[in-house]
Amino acid sequence: MPNPEDIARPARLHSEAPRGETPRPETLRPETPHPETLRSARMRPEQRDSERAESAEEVIRLEGIAKSFGAVTAVHPTSFSVRRGEFFALLGPSGCGKTTLLRILSGFHPPTAGRLFIDGTDMTAVPANRRPVNMVFQSYAVFPHMSVGENVAYGLKVAKVARSERQQRVREALELVRLGGMESRRPAQLSGGQQQRVALARALVMQPKVLLLDEPLSALDAKLREHMCAELVRLQKQVGITFLIVTHDQAEALSMADRIAVMNHGHLEQLDSPETLYTFPATRFVADFIGRINFFAAEVLADGTVEAQALGKFRPAQDSLPQGAATAALRPEQIVVSTTAPPKQEGRSMARGTVSLLAYYGDYCTAEIVLEGREDSTEGESEGGTEDSPKDNTGGQAKMTVFIINNTPQAREIAREGQAVWCSWAIRDLLLIPQAGGG
Ligand SMILES: Nc1ncnc2c1ncn2[C@@H]1O[C@H](COP(=O)(O)OP(=O)(O)OP(=O)(O)O)[C@@H](O)[C@H]1O
Ligand SMILES: [Mg+2]
Repeated sequence: MPNPEDIARPARLHSEAPRGETPRPETLRPETPHPETLRSARMRPEQRDSERAESAEEVIRLEGIAKSFGAVTAVHPTSFSVRRGEFFALLGPSGCGKTTLLRILSGFHPPTAGRLFIDGTDMTAVPANRRPVNMVFQSYAVFPHMSVGENVAYGLKVAKVARSERQQRVREALELVRLGGMESRRPAQLSGGQQQRVALARALVMQPKVLLLDEPLSALDAKLREHMCAELVRLQKQVGITFLIVTHDQAEALSMADRIAVMNHGHLEQLDSPETLYTFPATRFVADFIGRINFFAAEVLADGTVEAQALGKFRPAQDSLPQGAATAALRPEQIVVSTTAPPKQEGRSMARGTVSLLAYYGDYCTAEIVLEGREDSTEGESEGGTEDSPKDNTGGQAKMTVFIINNTPQAREIAREGQAVWCSWAIRDLLLIPQAGGG
């Protein structure tokens, strides 16, 4: 079977409220850009929202799809839908079942259980060559002995498309991937990125309803990945075909996809828009897998307040949390660091600490701060209990990772190991993940 591919990633500004599946009303967080998302804006989310509103109809539906290989369960019963025209990403660590799921969709693996619908038709038992999908693989799968044009024309030839139509479609597909005029070259005379484009053109020329891409960028170097990522997004908008891309790179998924399905050990953990996944991760696994985050052991008390390691007692923004063990989570960019104590403020908390470890990333660095314990809390809505003894560092020192933008006065003051600092944060930014949230 043919086709492979590779591409990379742009980045998007996190400037909009979550727009995903699960609107979680009042607790919208302040818009805090993440260093990894600051590089290049792509398209404003509301623009994509309106586009999606016209085509929210589903093109793929999985109902309890599962797959076992002997004793190995690669995919546990999984159900979700992919909407027509969307850029959908399957994201998860190595071995979580992404490729297996893609192969089930393409027809290369029969599922052990469940049903698969494409465009409303039950395709569970339909062979691969009769499904309206095309797959682009991770390794280059262009035929080395054929020219670029012949590679792209291959599927059309097999499908017995007339020569004149074939030539026209091949030309158009090569234009789409910006390889116009390269028909007669051999793959060996192309760069890695160009070969991936040939593979893309080969899949696109078949005009599939859904294009399945398995780690199409993984063979490319970082710079080319970034470029090809932007190209994929452009291409998808231009042709309007539904893209289902598999990746283990969270930044890639965040920057490209309209929606992301996060998988872990063969289970679907969460399916949401990038913003919702990042801002409201449903499980500890998702919170940890997407972006950087600080975790603190916590307990939800009977009165709805929370006691957390190093953070003290506070009333969380979320309602109806189950009583008992939980994890409090805080993103690095939500923490303000200063060398002097910040003024006490309604709804904010602070802790003293020492910079213990710095990692340099050029435009910013991360600093690990060892906390001495919560110094103070002036919670807005919390009734009493604000000055409880800091419940810090049981079972070791509590630490926080923060971001420091380099070449700023703040960086010159703070970015020194051993520097005494204050960390402060808004209590409403503390996300509580109940123990059942797993991970
Ligand atoms: N043909 C097979 N026979 C037996 N086990 C398999 C087979 N294919 C996959 N598996 C197992 O199923 C699980 C999921 O594999 P899969 O290839 O879907 O993972 P993945 O998420 O694509 O990982 P990666 O990111 O490394 O490509 C793994 O534990 C893998 O070892
Ligand atoms: Mg895989």
